[in-house]
Amino acid sequence: MAVSAVTCTAPVNIAVIKYWGKRDNDLILPINSSLSVTLHQDQLKTTTTAAASRDFTEDRLWLNGEEADVGHPRLQACLREVRRLARKRRGSSTEDTAALSLSYKVHIATENNFPTAAGLASSAAGYACLVSTLARLYGVEGELSEVARRGSGSACRSMLGGFVQWQRGERPDGRDSIAQQVAPETHWPELRVLVLVVSGEKKQVGSTAGMQTSVDTSPLLKHRAEVVVPERLALMVRHIRERDFEGFGKLTMQDSNQFHATCLDTFPPIFYLNDISRNIIALAHRFNAHHGCTKVAYTFDAGPNAVIFMLADTVAEFVEVVRRSFPPSTNGDQFVRGLPVSSASLPEELLAAVVAEPVPGAVRYILHTKPGPGPQFLDDPSQHLLGADGLPCQTA
Ligand code: DP6
Repeated sequence: MAVSAVTCTAPVNIAVIKYWGKRDNDLILPINSSLSVTLHQDQLKTTTTAAASRDFTEDRLWLNGEEADVGHPRLQACLREVRRLARKRRGSSTEDTAALSLSYKVHIATENNFPTAAGLASSAAGYACLVSTLARLYGVEGELSEVARRGSGSACRSMLGGFVQWQRGERPDGRDSIAQQVAPETHWPELRVLVLVVSGEKKQVGSTAGMQTSVDTSPLLKHRAEVVVPERLALMVRHIRERDFEGFGKLTMQDSNQFHATCLDTFPPIFYLNDISRNIIALAHRFNAHHGCTKVAYTFDAGPNAVIFMLADTVAEFVEVVRRSFPPSTNGDQFVRGLPVSSASLPEELLAAVVAEPVPGAVRYILHTKPGPGPQFLDDPSQHLLGADGLPCQTA
């Protein structure tokens, strides 16, 4: 069987100026621009293999080893767009007759290196990875964030590394609603990220449905999109360029808080933060107050997990504060994962001022990571998720 296969990996991103609300649901055009930090793939990534062959009889998809529905409209939109770009490209070139036939069916296998149950946004990495992989398979280059956007809005920002802006754009066809890099991942080498995975129920309103209700009912969201975000975006770009953690951190927290305020302003209201999230917010503010400046900055997406930015020299101390505040339940699981964290002993004064009543087991684990690059190609065929027969490789 002749099978052509391509494998890519793509990162997760976390917004510091949030996207919430669409002006076009089909094309996924946002009501405001947004800005995010791409996280390092050593800790969080999606891997996708796409294969095409004249012998495949239908398009098929496997998610984390399980066969899944390939008919999902957003997945189909991405597939259609990549094939359209491939057709366009071939139409305008004379060579390329050996290129992969566009009529071949594709097999797609995708998996995350982090538990989906952890509630870490996986659709952004997933669609960025899908689009990067398909584009490579069909030999398409150029502006692909526009295609990834059709899978999930936030996915367009995972097409680039470092600090990334998603321009809302003005055109009704979405051609100018694309991601642009504000600064590469090497720009701010001291910046670190802790993901605090909290315990608790998983059920909540999904982003797509939630933001639609917000657009329909929240006057605060309208004001945010029209007035607040344009000002904040310009300010955030400046803070990043100047590596001004005080400015960056404060604005990150304010924007997360305003996003959750628009959720409360939605009718019926949406709650993504839980008691543990609010406990973490209060802890961050006590920590900053104790130090007399912004040392740590939290942000929360459509769920209760906290993502906390800080500079490298704060990590050990803050991790110890989290450990004291949310003593891990001793189930043998590693409490701190990802990049190494050195141990710190906390001064009595800090303990007294910052660590309130401990809540055992509230934080399941901490993932330590940093900004990272955009999608990567894996050239080594042994890393493909699909075998020579076009079916998922057995994973141990
Ligand atoms: C709160 O990109 O998941 O994480 O475009 O409908 O797929 P769809 O929504 P999605 O929304 C992400 C919302 C957010 C904020 C952000 O990432 O900017």
